[in-house]
Amino acid sequence: MNTLTVQFGNRSYDIIVGAGCLYIVHERIQNESTFMLFDDNIRQYTESITSSASMAFHATEQTKVLPSIETICQSMRSAGIDRSSALIAMGGGVTGDVGGYAAASYMRGIPCIQIPTTLLAMVDASIGGKTGVNMQASDGELIKNMIGAFWQPSLVVADVTTLKTLDERQLRCGVAECIKHALLGHGDLMALLQSNREAILNCDEEVLIELVTQSAAIKKEVVESDERETGSRALLNLGHTFAHAIEPIKELDLYHGEAVAIGLCAATALSEAMGRIDAAKVDCVRELVSSYGLPTSLPIPQSVDMLNERMRSDKKHEGSTTRFIVLGESGGEIAEDVDEQLVALAWASVGGQLG
Ligand SMILES: NC(=O)c1ccc[n+]([C@@H]2O[C@H](COP(=O)([O-])OP(=O)(O)OC[C@H]3O[C@@H](n4cnc5c(N)ncnc54)[C@H](O)[C@@H]3O)[C@@H](O)[C@H]2O)c1
Repeated sequence: MNTLTVQFGNRSYDIIVGAGCLYIVHERIQNESTFMLFDDNIRQYTESITSSASMAFHATEQTKVLPSIETICQSMRSAGIDRSSALIAMGGGVTGDVGGYAAASYMRGIPCIQIPTTLLAMVDASIGGKTGVNMQASDGELIKNMIGAFWQPSLVVADVTTLKTLDERQLRCGVAECIKHALLGHGDLMALLQSNREAILNCDEEVLIELVTQSAAIKKEVVESDERETGSRALLNLGHTFAHAIEPIKELDLYHGEAVAIGLCAATALSEAMGRIDAAKVDCVRELVSSYGLPTSLPIPQSVDMLNERMRSDKKHEGSTTRFIVLGESGGEIAEDVDEQLVALAWASVGGQLG
């Protein structure tokens, strides 16, 4: 079992990574009562956690919306949850984001314990305090993570045993985020990913503990240095600027991690076009992504003009239309004033259609 501590002064918290380690939650809880929000697909693991009250949640991007927060808060109120209590969010990133935001909002904030049960949530979503929900725009489109709060958890317990029931496609999606972390300049994690593909996809517990620990350590380091994403935390968006443009396109039928995988390939192509890395590095990233059965290009070609337009409207609420996260020789870098033609070439390298 490994323990990492995210250092935020008096809001510091531990991330515990192990196999069969859910019992730790009880050793650590100091709150008078707890309310557990759990993903209804992982009911079997909830027996390890005793809580004063609990509520099953059907976790999808469509239920990751404000009305769910109100329903959860109503349940907490009925259960007598008050400011001396804590919320336990157990499930994937959707449940973690919704549970975290409910905890941030209920009675102006109660502690939140995150128990991630997908690889993506273990290495990414449960760490760093970004919580929130999607917003339904006036035209009906769901705008991802538009409403939310920074609310650091008080504890994260990642039990890799729970990954054994995770759909393999979802497991691969978590690997995409691990590849992103490795690309941000961490050779050990890259070597682990390159030499343990079978063990990871077969859910070997020892290897998964190492993978989650190393990957979570990178996320921890980045968020510690920039909690509110005013600077270096943006590096974690490597590949995501491209991914956000393609993930909502229904006919592509991409999970978030798959869109990230294609986004990482596009971001490395952009980095090469900008002269920051060589072609061998681009090939290396594509090989690694594809070795995990993740897509390296769009399953159905899309017009580059349309993709750039989608990217521009996504970036409007990020505040910059020309800033990208790219790779340099020593890891992730923020690039300002990126030429749109190079971005078009990056799209073309993953199946975008020019002209
Ligand atoms: N807060 C952050 O910093 C952050 C970072 C990255 C992603 N996210 C968010 O996380 C979400 C994606 O998270 P996700 O990929 O975990 O998706 P998810 O929560 O939708 O889970 C994926 C699927 O796996 C099921 N599942 C979960 N654990 C399982 C298990 N152990 N066994 C069997 N089935 C299981 C779920 O019911 C769901 O159907 C997105 O909404 C994204 O915006 C947040």
